[in-house]
This record gives sequence, structure tokens and C-alpha cells, in this order.
Amino acid sequence: MRVLFICTSPNKTGNTARVLGEIRRSCEAKGADVRWYDTAEMDISGCRGCQRCRGTGVCSIDDDMTIIKDEIMVSDVVVLGSPMYMGAETGQTKCLIDRFNSLFQPDKDGNPGSLVPKGKKAVTIMTCKLKDGDKIYNYENTKFFKVFVNLLGFDMVLSTIVPGTGDPKDIMNNYHAQNAVSDAVTFILP
Ligand SMILES: Cc1cc2nc3c(=O)[nH]c(=O)nc-3n(C[C@H](O)[C@H](O)[C@H](O)COP(=O)(O)O)c2cc1C
Repeated sequence: MRVLFICTSPNKTGNTARVLGEIRRSCEAKGADVRWYDTAEMDISGCRGCQRCRGTGVCSIDDDMTIIKDEIMVSDVVVLGSPMYMGAETGQTKCLIDRFNSLFQPDKDGNPGSLVPKGKKAVTIMTCKLKDGDKIYNYENTKFFKVFVNLLGFDMVLSTIVPGTGDPKDIMNNYHAQNAVSDAVTFILP
């Protein structure tokens, strides 16, 4: 079981990284082969919309997105973490998601198609400050389902929002974070 962690928070020791880190520790303890990338340390620019990837899957931008795409192809599970910024994922996360467009290859009749091999699962974790953020921002979970399952052809996605964040040192006292970790680990390694 190979698990790819992509943490898109600008804060490498923030709430999002800590929740993902707990999931990582449990996966490693259960024998998973884990890879971790902080996009804050990577060069991933926004899609230019040139559409040169259509039919080829090869993006015209030569940056670190190639590393992420290669890792997705060989991973069984992708775990994506993002803080909530202004009611949505961060701009960095959106750049990454837009660049998944080169993996999304609809056929000439407009039916969805994907270069991603079948049988993969995704976990998305968002963290946010508002205490009811898991309910207020629930639409974000629908979006991640559409990206990973409808567009990229993943089998399943588990999307969770951890509300009520404060000092990152205390995040694992937050029962939403505890539930998110335990649900994610069960989903990844049933
Ligand atoms: C620019 C910015 C926008 C934010 N927007 C929201 C928001 O719309 N709703 C919310 O509940 N929290 C919001 N927050 C709080 C963060 O989502 C929250 O503190 C999160 O846990 C930070 O994750 P991190 O520690 O990984 O950076 C915002 C924080 C920043 C810096």
C-alpha cells in the first residue's frame, strides 16, 4: 500500500500538516509505504490553459507538478490537505488541482476520461477556524468528490473538514481532528 501525502498549507508545522502527520504516522505503523510532499517547498504554477496536454497528458509547464503526477500514478491512495481560505481551498491548492487537468482526458464526445489507473482512493482534509466550519463549508467536500471521482476516475474519496482550529500545538485535542484521523486511517487501510 503506497500512500501519497500532499500538504498544501503554507505553514509546514500548522494545523493541516499536523492532522496529515497523524494519519501518516498511523499508516507507517501499519506498514504502508509513505511519500510526503509540502507544496510550499515546491514550484507548482497555475495552469496556462494552452491545452497542449489534450491527448498527450504532457503539460507544457516544466515544474514540480511532474513529480506529483508521477507519484499519483504509482500510489494507491492520495491524501490531500489544505487550510480553508475565504471559504475555499488555498490558491496553492487550486493551482495543483487545475494542473490535474493534464490527467483528465475527456473523449471527443465530451465524456469523462482519465489517465490515472483505476482502483485508487483519495482522502481530502481541510482545516478551518470557524467552529461550525464542517457544516458551513460542506460544499467543499462535493467539489473534491467531483475532482477525484468524476474527473480523475478514482474509486472513492473521503473528504473531511476539521473545524475550530487554533494553536496548531493543540490540534490533536480537537475531537474533529481525532475523528478525521481515525476515519482516514480506516478508509486507507481497512
Ligand atoms: C488568508 C486566510 C483566510 C482564512 N479564511 C478562513 C475562512 O474562510 N474560514 C475559516 O473558518 N477559517 C479561515 N482561516 C483560518 C484557517 O483556515 C485555519 O486557521 C487553518 O486551520 C489554518 O491551517 P494551517 O495551520 O495549516 O495554516 C483563514 C486563514 C487565513 C490565513
